Amino acid sequence: MHRRKLMEYLPRLLVPNPARNLALSARFACVIHPRADLFHVRHIRIGAGTILDACLIDANTEDRSGISIGKDCLIHRDVVMRAMEGSIEIGDRVSIQHFCAMYGHGRLEIGADVLIGPHCAIAVARHRVERLDIPVREQGVLRLDTHIGAGTWIGAHVTVFSGVRVGANAIIGAGAVVNRDIPDLAIAAGVPARVIRYRNA
Ligand SMILES: CC(C)(COP(=O)(O)OP(=O)(O)OC[C@H]1O[C@@H](n2cnc3c(N)ncnc32)[C@H](O)[C@@H]1OP(=O)(O)O)[C@@H](O)C(=O)NCCC(=O)NCCS
Repeated sequence: MHRRKLMEYLPRLLVPNPARNLALSARFACVIHPRADLFHVRHIRIGAGTILDACLIDANTEDRSGISIGKDCLIHRDVVMRAMEGSIEIGDRVSIQHFCAMYGHGRLEIGADVLIGPHCAIAVARHRVERLDIPVREQGVLRLDTHIGAGTWIGAHVTVFSGVRVGANAIIGAGAVVNRDIPDLAIAAGVPARVIRYRNA
């Protein structure tokens, strides 16, 4: 495993980030910070007008889906986005605050105009745990689709499990753990997250 990882990271030493990121900024008509770390670049698509601060984006995927970020998005410093052999699809005008970690596993889809507060963990893995003769880390994960609807606001320190569907224009309160689907327009909070009211009620 370490050997494969080494082979993945080795090209980083050969092409310095600033030069590569400048070339990618020109190609996608976006702004990519010189210290942003982009892996498996051929599977990454970025919309015009998007700003990537010094984040880490790793489109490690088996097919061509990879990671696609829409137009006019703002991905702040220290966000980590990893396809994890699945895919991540982000709509236009999405803002993701500092220290968020987002994983593909299956397919993670984030609608347009979504706001994600700092320190969130989105589509965290559901590890298989059935076997007792081998450690959890060797049992693999369930590859589930995760969806966050357009216009939704996710507060700080929220965890969203993979396989969950958060509706459109919903609000998830700070610190929530979202382990079940949340309907459109709901305001949900707590551990586990429960609907406290609806925005249109
Ligand atoms: C979810 C949120 C929007 C609700 O705001 P609100 O509609 O003004 O709700 P209220 O403050 O009236 O609270 C309603 C009830 O929900 C509870 N509640 C509100 N937010 C909560 C949270 N994050 N976790 C647990 N319970 C929460 C309140 O304690 C209250 O319960 P009670 O009726 O038993 O007293 C807000 O509390 C929140 O968490 N905002 C996120 C802020 C943030 O993370 N910003 C980061 C910048 S992106």
